[in-house]
Amino acid sequence: MKLPNYNEAKNREKVDIKYLDVNIKYDEIYKGKKYFLRTYGCQMNVHDSEQIKRYMTMLGMEATETLEDADVIVLNTCAIRENAHEKVMGYLGRCKHLKKTKKDLIIAITGCMASQEDVALDIMKNHKYVDILVGTNNLYDLPKLLIEKKTGQNIEVYSNSDIVPENVNYERDSKICAWVNIMYGCDKFCTYCIVPFTRGRERSRKMENILEECSHLVQNGYQEITLLGQNVNAYGNDLNLGYDFADLLENVAKLGIPRLRFVTSHPWNFTDKMIDVIAKYDNIMPYIHLPIQSGSDAILKKMNRRYTVEEYKELFNKMKDRIPGVSITTDIIVGFPGETEEDFQKTLDIAEYCKYDGAYTFIYSERKGTASSFMKDDTPLKEKEERLQRLNEVINKYSRINNEKLLGKEVPVLILGESEKDSTKLYGYTDTYKLVNVIGSKDLIGKIVNVKIEDAKSFSLDGTAVKE
Ligand code: SAH
Ligand code: SF4
Ligand code: F3S
Repeated sequence: MKLPNYNEAKNREKVDIKYLDVNIKYDEIYKGKKYFLRTYGCQMNVHDSEQIKRYMTMLGMEATETLEDADVIVLNTCAIRENAHEKVMGYLGRCKHLKKTKKDLIIAITGCMASQEDVALDIMKNHKYVDILVGTNNLYDLPKLLIEKKTGQNIEVYSNSDIVPENVNYERDSKICAWVNIMYGCDKFCTYCIVPFTRGRERSRKMENILEECSHLVQNGYQEITLLGQNVNAYGNDLNLGYDFADLLENVAKLGIPRLRFVTSHPWNFTDKMIDVIAKYDNIMPYIHLPIQSGSDAILKKMNRRYTVEEYKELFNKMKDRIPGVSITTDIIVGFPGETEEDFQKTLDIAEYCKYDGAYTFIYSERKGTASSFMKDDTPLKEKEERLQRLNEVINKYSRINNEKLLGKEVPVLILGESEKDSTKLYGYTDTYKLVNVIGSKDLIGKIVNVKIEDAKSFSLDGTAVKE
């Protein structure tokens, strides 16, 4: 048993990274059994779930979409805001109920919630029906814990780690687009954020291992690779091997993948060299997610974001100038402790200035253990909700205006599948990462095709595939 521990999580003393081969062969002791997996949170978690799927398959299990049919339930959780937490706790209630009739049902919690001190204690005290808790830093222990099947709760959470798993053999959801993890953890400690506590120190993979994984994907016909990290552009800083994110990006681009993307970039780590590489290669998509969080210097300082609004603007303008047609999106938090109406006005100002292609906007949510949870927060929730609404009006206005610029144009779209809302249509993304519903034949799935844009809304475009 190993419980999450935030003092361990906070440790950023330099360590030597160990690369661990996790492609171990397990006996199929769960043959004939079914697993149900539910994923919450960011792309990192979605990708971690592809790792979980592989472990389940290796143990002999098959996936089921029906909760009631499952012999093993895995909730891969997110801790970023209180509503993410509540969703999981609500779902756990349903799982608990099933255990009454199915005595040997196994319930496992993975993901960021498993690495929260208060959640682990709550699970031990109030949710004894949960069998396994495994942390993000040692997800590779999940098969081991399932094999051991200890009686009682089996909690194994490493709050920090010097290990990077290699040779993961992901069971990928798509044959068209692939996620590639280039680094784990986060060292930034933005004062509102739980991630440095739930994912531990920054650890980069070696460039040669990343390139090997990417070249396999290219050989297998993948059309798009997205490089993943909480701070992708801090890649390599922990290694001191003389290469950085720009070098990695360039080398992956040279492998000839048709589309290359990356998330998420931190403004503080963005260099001119990175901008030049993005501009130089046609297969690096002109799309950058560049979270600003607030338009007020005072709030940015309290958030420990390490840049001023002026510095952000300078970077933003450099990207717009040097990368033709670049689309930039952002994340913004309203109602951070102590945010005044004046501070918020500055956030509206930056949204007006940047005219973002899109933005994820959030009301600040206090996370236990973070620095901001100790700050005085006296803005009523109602006021924060009003600020969010006012901000969203500006954000939606510009995303619609930016989308409307494409009306009547023919743009390349990577077709990913049938549209969920309307199965007579397809859906895909432009190079600038705009969602398009497309009229066209199903054999276009997996291809990059020109689409004539006929309608534009705030969150999507409509168009027809152009016959070559
Ligand atoms: N590593 C990425 C994304 C982290 S989480 C980055 O640094 O940009 C995604 C977004 O969730 C953040 O950008 C932030 O806007 C938001 N977020 C994080 N913690 C939050 C909190 N406590 N309350 C509200 N929003 C939060
Ligand atoms: Fe959280 Fe900041 Fe790290 Fe992003 S950079 S994961 S917001 S601490
Ligand atoms: Fe959530 Fe953890 Fe991702 S908190 S957003 S799943 S890094």
